[in-house]
Amino acid sequence: MSEQQSGEIAAPYGTGSASPAKPVKRVRTHHLREMKERGEKVTMLTAYDMYTAATFDEAGVELLLVGDSASNNVFGNETSLPVTVDELLPLTRAVARSVKRAMVVGDLPFGSYQASPEQGYLTAVRFMKEAGAHCVKLEGGAEMAPVIEKCTRGGIPVMAHIGFTPQSEHTLGGYRVQGRGEQADRILADAHAVQEAGAFAVVMEMVPADVAARVTKELDISTIGIGAGPDCDGQVLVWQDAFGLRTGRMATFVKQYADVHGVLLEAARAYADDVRGGSFPGPEHSF
Ligand code: KIV
Repeated sequence: MSEQQSGEIAAPYGTGSASPAKPVKRVRTHHLREMKERGEKVTMLTAYDMYTAATFDEAGVELLLVGDSASNNVFGNETSLPVTVDELLPLTRAVARSVKRAMVVGDLPFGSYQASPEQGYLTAVRFMKEAGAHCVKLEGGAEMAPVIEKCTRGGIPVMAHIGFTPQSEHTLGGYRVQGRGEQADRILADAHAVQEAGAFAVVMEMVPADVAARVTKELDISTIGIGAGPDCDGQVLVWQDAFGLRTGRMATFVKQYADVHGVLLEAARAYADDVRGGSFPGPEHSF
């Protein structure tokens, strides 16, 4: 596709790379809009390090979220609450450095944006400037509209996150489906509020499928579901759940595509057996 056709021109001031190779086109917010118009589904996974990021990028996943779920999936905490901006920034930087096409979403952790729009903006700037994120995600609906507005006016694309919001698990009374019965109006109001405030997409977590379908139909921006049924514009899963690195009880909305834990376990056992039995290293591994 020519520059004229795509509407995107080559970087006018150089990109820091001397490579003459044709650049791979980065996924941008307008691509999501166009995908929604064409009825094409958007794919999103979490990633927290260079190899998973590069692999998911190679697979063509459009959005990589360096989620605050790193708290429980990388740092060993029980919930997403303890993880800090300083812990997430290096993970986000590693992911951003490792992708060619995917849009990297930096996730603002608990306590780093709720105090004021100024606090939210300054934290979001750190993710964009220090880590190279292409946009940020934050949790909350109508009450977060001023933060979303401040960030988008300040040049930072925002993905909102409504329905079940893990950072508020103590106010929400634990992991519960949000938006059942009369609560559906609240989900719809939140979805419209974040769109009005300028969000380019919205994650809906643990929302009844019919409510998520209605939101998706009413909004112009993309909806990304996790436990929100099949009618959202896209889907997201935490990769350790989807590909089986984490074991144990999974949420109903998780589909397991691989058994990475099993593969690693076998490999680690085979290695340990070889070392103990003296067959590794062999002459071919020695100088
Ligand atoms: O942090 C995360 O992984 C998330 C997803 C569950 C959407 O917010």
